[in-house]
Amino acid sequence: MIQETLSQKINHIADLIRQTQHTVAFTGAGISTESGIPDFRSPDSGLWRNVDPMTVASIFGFKRDPKAFYDWVAPLTRTTINAAPNPSHIALAEMEQRGHLDGIITQNIDMLHTRAGSKTVFELHGHMREATCINCFKVYDGKPILEKFLEDSKVPTCETCNGVLKPNVILFGEQLPVREFQGAQDAARKCDLMIIIGSSLEVEPAGELPRLAYRTGAKLVIVNLEPTSADKLAEVVIHARAAEILPAIVRQLETN
Ligand code: APR
Repeated sequence: MIQETLSQKINHIADLIRQTQHTVAFTGAGISTESGIPDFRSPDSGLWRNVDPMTVASIFGFKRDPKAFYDWVAPLTRTTINAAPNPSHIALAEMEQRGHLDGIITQNIDMLHTRAGSKTVFELHGHMREATCINCFKVYDGKPILEKFLEDSKVPTCETCNGVLKPNVILFGEQLPVREFQGAQDAARKCDLMIIIGSSLEVEPAGELPRLAYRTGAKLVIVNLEPTSADKLAEVVIHARAAEILPAIVRQLETN
């Protein structure tokens, strides 16, 4: 296959989007690094380079030592609360508004897609909008709980039963939210084109959805700094920064 130039690849992606009835985006932490939020597996900056995710970010680890989770997640929480959507999030929101995108399947908990204006977002790994008591399941507004933790570094507890509060993010070992995951599976099956942005595709079951889309007839486009295991299945692969590529795709869609 002849080697397309970057602009030929961007034109190719815009053509695929125009020709497609149903396009879905699939995003990972890499789409938010340009909002200042570190991802998990980038070689020199990923969050998992210094800690064992199973210790700090599994439901077993959380129940054993919730303080270790909160101490680990504190800097990420501070960064997330202060982060703003970047041109990638905004480009996807614009594509949805113009009818070029049915929705977004995201593994991210940072809520930047909805804050950028995207309406149909399947948050497979939850979000920080709420926190739930792991004892009596009472639900709390997440922001004040997290801000209070950032102030006093105390593990948040339930005012009713004194149980530990956990942000509504999905930890390793937890079930994905059923409605979100089924909605994402339906979107993956129905789409003719899936644009995968900023994900290593290393975590199941989320990482399986691009292959599900491919098996049910969708074409794949991948925009990711590092190679992924799905590159060989993709129609177009661009190893570059999402915040450079996605706005260029939206500009190309506007030209004709
Ligand atoms: N533009 C494009 N790609 C980028 C950018 C960028 N600006 N920055 C980073 N990337 C790429 C990295 O090269 C990497 O391949 O994004 C990918 C991010 O991969 P991960 O860090 O593994 O993040 P993700 O795929 O979302 O992880 C999935 O793992 O630990 C769990 O629950 C956590 O939701 C997370 C899941």
